[in-house]
Amino acid sequence: MVKKMRWSIAPLLLLLPGLAEAADLDRGRALAERWCGNCHVVDRTTSAGRADGLPTLPAIAAKRETTAASLKGVMSAPHGRMPDLSLGARDQDDLIAYILSLRPN
Ligand code: HEC
Repeated sequence: MVKKMRWSIAPLLLLLPGLAEAADLDRGRALAERWCGNCHVVDRTTSAGRADGLPTLPAIAAKRETTAASLKGVMSAPHGRMPDLSLGARDQDDLIAYILSLRPN
C-alpha cells in the first residue's frame, strides 16, 4: 500500500529538480551579493561593486578551468586577500550553482 502510493507520486518528483534548481540559484545570487559583492562584481549587469582588477563572477564563470570543484576549493580555504568565509555546504552549493549559471553559452 505504502509502496503503491510512493510510485504514484514518482512523476511529480521528477519535476522537482527543476524547481529546486531555480530556488538554489536565487539563494546563490543572494549569497553572492552578500558574501562576494564587497570585492567582486557578482552579475552581468550591475555597475556596483569594486572594479579594482578583481575578476567578476561572470568572468570567473567563463574561465575554462572553473569547475564546481575549483570553486569549492576557493570557498573552503582562504587565499590571497580573500577572507575565510566559512560557508556551509549548502551555501557553497547554491553559490556554485549561481556562479556557474553565469557561464556564457
Ligand atoms: C574581501 C574581498 C573578497 C571577497 C569578499 C571575496 N573575494 Fe574572491 N577574491 C578576492 C581576491 C583579492 C582575489 C584574488 C586572488 C588572490 O588575491 O589570492 C579573489 C579571487 C577569487 C577567485 C579566483 C579568481 C580567478 O582568477 O580564478 C574566485 C573563484 C573567487 N575569488 C570567488 C569568490 C567568491 C565565490 C566569493 C564569495 C563567496 C568571493 N570570492 C569573495 C577577494 C575577495
